[in-house]
Amino acid sequence: MKVLLINGSPHENGCTYTALREAADAMEACGVDTEIVWVGKAPVRGCIACGGCRKAGKCVFDDDMTNRIGELAQTADGFVFGSPVYYAGLNGTVSSLMDRLFYSQGRHFRHKPAAAVVSARRAGTTTALDEIQKYFGLCEMPLVNSSYWTMVHGSKAEDVRMDEEGMQVMRNLGRNMAWLLKCIEAGKQQGIAPEGNEYGVRTNFIR
Ligand SMILES: Cc1cc2nc3c(=O)[nH]c(=O)nc-3n(C[C@H](O)[C@H](O)[C@H](O)COP(=O)(O)O)c2cc1C
Repeated sequence: MKVLLINGSPHENGCTYTALREAADAMEACGVDTEIVWVGKAPVRGCIACGGCRKAGKCVFDDDMTNRIGELAQTADGFVFGSPVYYAGLNGTVSSLMDRLFYSQGRHFRHKPAAAVVSARRAGTTTALDEIQKYFGLCEMPLVNSSYWTMVHGSKAEDVRMDEEGMQVMRNLGRNMAWLLKCIEAGKQQGIAPEGNEYGVRTNFIR
């Protein structure tokens, strides 16, 4: 069992990373493998709605981490997406990345558990969490929660390490992810899989 954790901050070892690291260490202690992937500082372009991914099976733009994360997602069993809070929402990098990743390769995420983690100096955390969780909703991904909303506070990694409740929340998030993955695995061994859902109908509001 493996969980992929995405650090969407421009800071490789900043606040978001510190939160993800705490959750990942808790998962490892429960016997779950983890990999933290840093999106980096290079621009991540937004979706241009070209529809090319329908044919390619991935985003037509191959110059950032989007398709690489899509590849890693194929063999991952669970996910944590982490973003710093920018103007009371998720940051532009994570927004662009998740738009293109889920639009082009949502199939690699479907029915796998996921969690969102955000870091803020002060405010805007719940909106940012809500935005990230919307991607999981459309991919039928069980949402993994913790003993409080999955946020930490600080401007630097050291601040986050002093956010004792935030760190506790991250450890509990890691444990809850491990527990759910083990439940899903036990279910698989009993022959329990997602039921055959229907996807054919797509209407809009005018016809
Ligand atoms: C462009 C920008 C916008 C920000 N907006 C907010 C905000 O709305 N609320 C907040 O509390 N912190 C805000 N911050 C601060 C970061 O969210 C905060 O320092 C975060 O913990 C940094 O995480 P990182 O070290 O992983 O990048 C903003 C920072 C930047 C650069």
